[in-house]
Amino acid sequence: MKKLKCGVIGCGRIGCGFDEILSRTLIRTHALSYYKNPKSELVALCDIDKKKLEYYGKKYKIEKVYENSKDMFEDQKLDCVSICTTANEHFKLVKEAIKNDVKGIIIEKPISNSLDSAEKIIKLCKKSNVVLAVNHQRRFDPFYHLLSKLINQKKNGNVQNVNVYYGGGIANSGSHIYDVLRFFFGDVKSLNANVSLNSSNNMQDPNYDVKIQFKNKIRCNLVGINFKNYGIAEIDILFAKKRFSIDLVTNQVKIFEVLSRVQDYKLLQLSKQLKGKRPATDIRLVIENFINCVQTRKNPFCTGYDGYKSLELVVGSILSAKSRRELQIPFKNKNYKIESR
Ligand SMILES: NC(=O)c1ccc[n+]([C@@H]2O[C@H](COP(=O)([O-])OP(=O)(O)OC[C@H]3O[C@@H](n4cnc5c(N)ncnc54)[C@H](O)[C@@H]3O)[C@@H](O)[C@H]2O)c1
Repeated sequence: MKKLKCGVIGCGRIGCGFDEILSRTLIRTHALSYYKNPKSELVALCDIDKKKLEYYGKKYKIEKVYENSKDMFEDQKLDCVSICTTANEHFKLVKEAIKNDVKGIIIEKPISNSLDSAEKIIKLCKKSNVVLAVNHQRRFDPFYHLLSKLINQKKNGNVQNVNVYYGGGIANSGSHIYDVLRFFFGDVKSLNANVSLNSSNNMQDPNYDVKIQFKNKIRCNLVGINFKNYGIAEIDILFAKKRFSIDLVTNQVKIFEVLSRVQDYKLLQLSKQLKGKRPATDIRLVIENFINCVQTRKNPFCTGYDGYKSLELVVGSILSAKSRRELQIPFKNKNYKIESR
């Protein structure tokens, strides 16, 4: 099969910058993922920042780099494009890509800056038969598929509560958290949010503390933590018979169960530890699945709809805190725009 011609728009951190050494086995960027994948060829880079373009153009030995996405699409017959800019640019870039007959588009999270534009992105791709993926990368890792199975085993007993610690903003990190929660527990029925007292250190994207009720009646608390102190992204699931403590960055999981007693008091003790093959920052499998789906016209592991549902919970958290009320999902306000990221 012919190699797919791929381009990256936005040569910032996730587009190119996280990978300075091209020989590393841990792959953290779209550019290096295409570069290393035998089924794809990285043929174009685009960024409004000329310096980054020249730097990464040389690094990847790409002859033609573009300061303007329209020029790139007109000049190159791209099969696939990665959109790695901030969310406010996504809709415009998707329209350009579709106009120029790409076969596949992968968008960095969050899918867009409003539910309205996210919906339009999904509809446009569907109408044009374009494969659309969103990079909530944990869905692409077999380890998370295994975890989801283990979590949903009846023998764990009922879920008493789920607690999540995260930081770095509800749109930036929270969108990943919401995606993983949906992956494990299904859709959310309602949520009630407040701005967290622990800063995200980004005025445009605060942390929110959120009480969540899933449709299957599972309850969950999201607690914002200040990343200036330390980074954290953890899900703690308290079943009746077990406890799963999941580190969403290192992909290390501790499972506890009652193994002994002190009189009437049942002691939870570590019974098993699991570790994924790679940390969550490795996005090689994301691009691998995306490329395969473009070739076979299948749905990727994280679809536009998944991206939409994660954004819905981000926007819902903001609207709930603003109105100081519990919010039922879905809600009507699709025009609310989140700031950048
Ligand atoms: N999946 C993940 O784990 C992960 C990690 C980091 C960032 N992200 C997401 O990726 C996106 C980008 O984040 P980043 O940290 O790489 O940002 P960044 O600021 O480092 O990079 C964005 C780049 O896009 C360029 N750009 C902006 N508008 C453009 C346009 N119209 N045409 C061409 N280039 C344009 C900017 O000049 C910049 O170089 C964000 O949405 C972020 O949430 C995801």
